[in-house]
Amino acid sequence: MIDFDTIIERRGTHSYKWDDPGQGRDVIPLWVADMDFPAPPAVTSALSARAANPIYGYTFAPEGLFQAFIRWHLRRNRWRVERDWVVPAPGVVPCLHYAVEAFTREGQGVVVQPPVYGPFFRAVEALGRRLTPNPLIRDGMRYRMNLEGLETLLDGGVGLLILCSPHNPVARVWDPEELLALGNLCRDRGVVIVSDDIHSDLIMPGKTFTPLAALGEDLAANSVTCSSPSKSFNIPGAGSAFAVIPDPEKRDAFRRAAERMGAMDMPNLFSAAAAEAAYREGEEWLEEVKSYIWDNYLFLEDFCRRRLPDLRVHPLEGTYVVWIDFRGLGLSAREMDTALRDARVRPSPGEIFGPGGEGFYRLNIACPRELLRQGLERIAAAFPGTGK
Ligand SMILES: Cc1ncc(COP(=O)(O)O)c(C=O)c1O
Repeated sequence: MIDFDTIIERRGTHSYKWDDPGQGRDVIPLWVADMDFPAPPAVTSALSARAANPIYGYTFAPEGLFQAFIRWHLRRNRWRVERDWVVPAPGVVPCLHYAVEAFTREGQGVVVQPPVYGPFFRAVEALGRRLTPNPLIRDGMRYRMNLEGLETLLDGGVGLLILCSPHNPVARVWDPEELLALGNLCRDRGVVIVSDDIHSDLIMPGKTFTPLAALGEDLAANSVTCSSPSKSFNIPGAGSAFAVIPDPEKRDAFRRAAERMGAMDMPNLFSAAAAEAAYREGEEWLEEVKSYIWDNYLFLEDFCRRRLPDLRVHPLEGTYVVWIDFRGLGLSAREMDTALRDARVRPSPGEIFGPGGEGFYRLNIACPRELLRQGLERIAAAFPGTGK
């Protein structure tokens, strides 16, 4: 059993989450999506071993890393990735930028499905493309994609769709039928799909992850899958990702775009060491961390039922971020932000995920249970009248 209960001090490590200068020292941060858990021991050993050789020169991606990545997907997702398809990159967000640059021209539409991870919007706008939102539909407590609305959008000259699979922040794991319907719509109109699968190893009980590109050669040929060990093994600071692009022309276009944007064909040496060790030896750790996160989710659900009954907690199908509807409190976004700030707890406000996020908060629950408990106590203290 790995110890995920111990609270490890992260302040003073230049942590985005813990050392944000505007935040105050005694705030419990439940925002940035990294875990407050130690990475798999094999990762720490690999990093120490690499650091022990004191020359940190230019490094290429080792063949063992590609093989570990390929075996991972075959074993866990029954997805057969060929070696040639894999393009290493420093992060998933850079891959999104390369894809927008590669497959669309200035002014052209790119579909995103809000509420969604904020950098999707930036990847489109920073490159002068037209943001084309296809908001998710909230059916009771379950979100779905608006495939009917999408058809009309796609016919309006869109070049690319950015899919979040599983979907941050609403924590949906898309079913094969949904992915197939989406994939077919885009394929028929020549609209490339970039599937951001960064959360795909974090699937909760009762759900199964299917990569869109595993659903058929035609869908694979029309896709770029962005995969990464960052979230899975809590190594996002090491910066590591892979774009999987089965179609050779699309792969060339992607590589050329990356070059134009200054990407180098050279990983950070520590990220390569961490990623290879994680894929080779991190599976048991991953299973344990998922189970701990799931228990945290059950703890949170129970806490909210008893102490914050005006909040509505969405099902956690995947990821370690929980999407919660705070609108039942009957307060404005400003009132809620102020109350949470005064209570010294910091979830992510829903607005940062675009249309449909207002009145919601996203809570990162990948932390020791005691920290989560304290965070929830502070949320309860922020809204003392709730449920009375
Ligand atoms: C959906 C999604 N994509 C990408 C990222 C970040 O990826 P990277 O750090 O590899 O650029 C995150 C981090 O929160 C995320 O949630």
